[in-house]
Amino acid sequence: MEIIIQNTPQDAADIAASIIAKLLNEKPNAVLGLATGSTPLPLYKRLVELNLDWSQVITFNLDEYIGLPRDHSQSYHTFMWENLFRHTNIHPSNVYIPDGNTADIPKFCADYEALIIEKGGIDIQVLGIGTDGHIGFNEPTSSLASRTRIKTLTQQTIRDNARFFGTEEEIPHHVITMGIGTIMEARQNILLAFGENKAQAIAEAVEGPIQAINPATVLQMHPNAKFFLDIKSASRLKRKEYYNWVYSNKPEWQKF
Ligand code: F6R
Repeated sequence: MEIIIQNTPQDAADIAASIIAKLLNEKPNAVLGLATGSTPLPLYKRLVELNLDWSQVITFNLDEYIGLPRDHSQSYHTFMWENLFRHTNIHPSNVYIPDGNTADIPKFCADYEALIIEKGGIDIQVLGIGTDGHIGFNEPTSSLASRTRIKTLTQQTIRDNARFFGTEEEIPHHVITMGIGTIMEARQNILLAFGENKAQAIAEAVEGPIQAINPATVLQMHPNAKFFLDIKSASRLKRKEYYNWVYSNKPEWQKF
């Protein structure tokens, strides 16, 4: 695991963006796994500023609410088109986002998994983290081997996401999410976390034991996982001086 701590969310997101930009330059038909929510916004802003060629890029989103109309202001379809895709030259047929209105959820989920494999697997998966440690919408106690499936949001996640909807009542209780096993198959995982309210989940994910009660802890088992943090989300890490030391001592050839 690599822990990169920066003064501001934008500083951290800019470095993450440079890794994605390098991939797209080297592999124009790269497969990206993408997240929604407030955390990836500075990353998407920077990616747009970089004016990259997305014409062959394929994307798979982590999750979507069940039952929300696709064009609802808070659907993850709307989020992705508003905040990233419409500012790029991505081909709409290369964009895959779980269909929260599918008639057959298990079949949809199995097909989504098969499609990821058919497209060559995910090169870089972008992740946020919930205050309860969820990645995707794999809530605490999710199987660490889980695949794409329906999940029930925790009450804490519903409270956390009420800021987007205005009221808790409007938030669907169910989602389709890639599984933890699916996320672990990405060749690289880039997790972003900003703000004091993520500090506890991050301390557990980086320095705690691997446990389904904090699904992000599983990334300790991933061969290429990077955490991009601001000072606030890193505030409860016991070894942050060491992580900063490692980053400032990176050999030239290893720099992002
Ligand atoms: C969203 C997702 C979630 C969020 C997490 C943090 O696609 O997969 O895991 O990353 O809920 O959300 P924010 O960034 O809004 O704090």
